[in-house]
Formats: sequence, C-alpha cells, structure tokens
Amino acid sequence: MSPLVSALNLYDIANVKGVAADLSHCNTPSQVQDFTGASELGNCLKGVNVVVIPAGVPRKPGMTRDDLFNINANIVKTLVEAVADNCPDAFIHIISNPVNSTVPIAAEVLKQKGVYDPKKLFGVTTLDVVRANTFVAQKKNLKLIDVDVPVVGGHAGITILPLLSKTKPSVNFTNEEVEQLTVRIQNAGTEVVEAKAGAGSATLSMAYAAARFVESSLRALDGDGDVYECSFVQSDLTDLPFFASRIKLGRKGIEALIPSDLSGISEYEEKALEALKPELKASIEKGIAFVQKQP
Ligand code: LMR
Repeated sequence: MSPLVSALNLYDIANVKGVAADLSHCNTPSQVQDFTGASELGNCLKGVNVVVIPAGVPRKPGMTRDDLFNINANIVKTLVEAVADNCPDAFIHIISNPVNSTVPIAAEVLKQKGVYDPKKLFGVTTLDVVRANTFVAQKKNLKLIDVDVPVVGGHAGITILPLLSKTKPSVNFTNEEVEQLTVRIQNAGTEVVEAKAGAGSATLSMAYAAARFVESSLRALDGDGDVYECSFVQSDLTDLPFFASRIKLGRKGIEALIPSDLSGISEYEEKALEALKPELKASIEKGIAFVQKQP
C-alpha cells in the first residue's frame, strides 16, 4: 500500500504464486512478482533496495526464541548468502528468530563474502516499540499517536528493555506500573504464542511493525532527513557488539546511533540493562560461532 514501494518481489520455497496473484490485484502502483525455490532466489534479489527476511519456523507454547535456533539459523544463513551474491548494497531487515543470534549470523555471512556494511544490517525490533507504545497509552489513558517509548537491548525475554523513563510525552509511573509494563512488554510475544495455542506466533502485529520499519527505510533511502527507529544493530553504545537502540536512518543506512536514550535512565532500568547483558552476549556469540564453525 505504500506509494514508496515500486516493486515487490516475493520469495518462498512453496505457495508464493497464490499470494503474489492475490496481492497483485490491489490497485497500488507496485509491481508484484513471485519466485519459488532456491533456483529462483537469485533473480528475486537482483536489483532490490530492501530485503525483509521473516522466514523460518515460529514458536509453540513453552518454547523460547532460542529454541528456534537450530532450524532458523541455517535458513537465515542461506538467504543472506544469496543477498550477498545478488544485492550486497541492499538494506537487510532480519525478522527471523532468534533475532539476537540471527543478526550476528547475517553479519558473519556478509563478512565472509566480503560485503558486510554494518550500516545496512538491521534486526527488526519495531514490534517491541509498537507494543510498548500501545500498552503505555492504554495504562495511562494517553492518545496513542503521541506516545513513543524507546526499547533497547535485544529481542527476547529480559533482553527487551523498554526505557519507560524516556517515554514521550513525559509520564510518571509508579514502581509497580514500571514493573508490570516492563514484564508485559518483554512477554508480549509469548502472550500471542500462548493465545495461538500451537498455531504459531505474532503475524499481523509483526507485519504491521515490519511495514513501519520498511516504510522508514524507504523514506530514508528517498532522502528524508528525519527518520528515527529502534533496531538491533552493530553498536558501540555498550560493551556488546550488537545492541538495539534508537538509530537515525539515511540514504546509506544507519547515519547515527542515538546514545542519549541511555543516559539518565532510572535505577530500575540501569539494573535491567546490566542484567540483560550476559544473555544477550551469549546469544550474539552463539550466532557468530555458528557461522565461524562451518567448514
Ligand atoms: C514476537 O515478538 O512476537 C516475535 O518475536 C515472535 C515470537 O516468537 O514471540
């Protein structure tokens, strides 16, 4: 539906034709094309500006995102190899879980191929911001359109850290509200997994959030100088090599990491930030080791 999308190439290992035919009937300017199976992957990717990777298996109740590692790591690796070969300059949006590991996997693959540009590789954490904004607006009876909560760290359990003290417009929360909202935002993915009772994880809110991040990327590529989003990216804001924070997007990808959200945070957030680091570090290292260990 975005006027910024001129062409939409859809790829999967099966069932793409129907989805593409369906979408192509919408009276929007974008041209929809379908590509099925490994032999058509290269042609799907040639010339594209933004690649969105939501592929892989979803969680079932009782699973963590890391439980998906064994299947999804290989899927992401294969797709990113094809991106490296066919559209190395594209922005790459990684949605496939565990994002805390799949983004480092993608980085290693791109490094091995000699085309890694850390400014163009993004773990999509927009859904955490979308959820934080929704839950805060509900709790505090605010107009949703005005609410903006930065979410930093990673995209799994306690690594998801909403900085409620940095909510705009400025809001006062009791300690109890902070605890309750933080835990709800951290467990929101699991809330959906449990409600779906074995039929997968969030798809519609995820699509909404992914579309927002794509739209922001396309605006940045078009030269809009005022595009900010949170994303899990290569970072020097903490001692971890990858970290989600607010970033400024430009024509060449990340123009700047925004450190100001991390200064002057509450004591609760300081502690949560320290507490998330060991888990996030382990997930990042697991992703890197997965690629480096391959013959
Ligand atoms: C989400 O946050 O909804 C996604 O990461 C999917 C999941 O497994 O929770």
